[in-house]
Amino acid sequence: MPEGVSKVKSQEFSVAPMAGALGAEVHGLDASVLTGLSAELNDVFLEHKVLAIRGQDLNPASFLAFSKLWGDIHFYPYMTGLPEEPEVFEIRTAPDAKRVFGNRWHSDQMYDAHPCKATLLYAQELPPVGGDTVFTDLEASYEALSEGMKAMLAGLRIHCDPGDKTRYGGKTRAEWYAGDDMAVKLNGKDAAPPVAIHPLVRTHPETGRKCLFVGDQVQRFDGLTLEESAPLLSYLMTHIQRPEFTCRVRWEPGTLVMWDNRCTCHYAVADYVGQFRRMHRVTIAGDTPY
Ligand code: SIN
Repeated sequence: MPEGVSKVKSQEFSVAPMAGALGAEVHGLDASVLTGLSAELNDVFLEHKVLAIRGQDLNPASFLAFSKLWGDIHFYPYMTGLPEEPEVFEIRTAPDAKRVFGNRWHSDQMYDAHPCKATLLYAQELPPVGGDTVFTDLEASYEALSEGMKAMLAGLRIHCDPGDKTRYGGKTRAEWYAGDDMAVKLNGKDAAPPVAIHPLVRTHPETGRKCLFVGDQVQRFDGLTLEESAPLLSYLMTHIQRPEFTCRVRWEPGTLVMWDNRCTCHYAVADYVGQFRRMHRVTIAGDTPY
């Protein structure tokens, strides 16, 4: 078999890296017919961390069925899913939207005691141009640090508060999304569940690799004040955004993107004012970070 071509249950598909750090384009895989997760496909996912699987033709049921091959579903705590498939959540940005969901560097639900393992996002309606999703590799970010810095970070833990209003300009989620399409999806559960505390240097449960587990859902380091944490947090947030650690997914009709939240952050680019964008999303349950 030529290099870059893999086979899953008699389906040949090609895998081509999209950037030096992470991300791969997958062609020739039909997600709608897979009934099990092969070690080979899982290895491709673990190696590249972000897969843009092109040319899919899925409905909410077949999208969900493919998603479930990767684990149990993690319900998004603050918004409701589709009436026909509640485990599938729709992200909508109307032409006059004031907010774009996911327009910040984050790993999904870091504020949960068990943050999501993976997210699957399937394009429904796309703007003619723009609306890309950018990813950064938190393992490459960690590896690039000096040994002295790694030693200094080793014992730190991150404090992630789901009710943190600073992420929403001092507003609640309901106030933040008021008037936008996403507002109708809010389920009213805005009360803060417990704060999650995780190790800053996280070990991937499947590969054993270490990463810098930071994102905009981190307010401070456990045991340190906001002021004491701010300079280091700001440095780490800037560091993980270095272009060398990133890849950028350009959406096309039929694209399904899945990413590993245990070692990546992502950012939904809000550059399509006046256009519509609609995606279906499923999140997969994760474990306790260590
Ligand atoms: C997300 O943050 O989960 C959404 C990303 C996107 O819409 O591109």
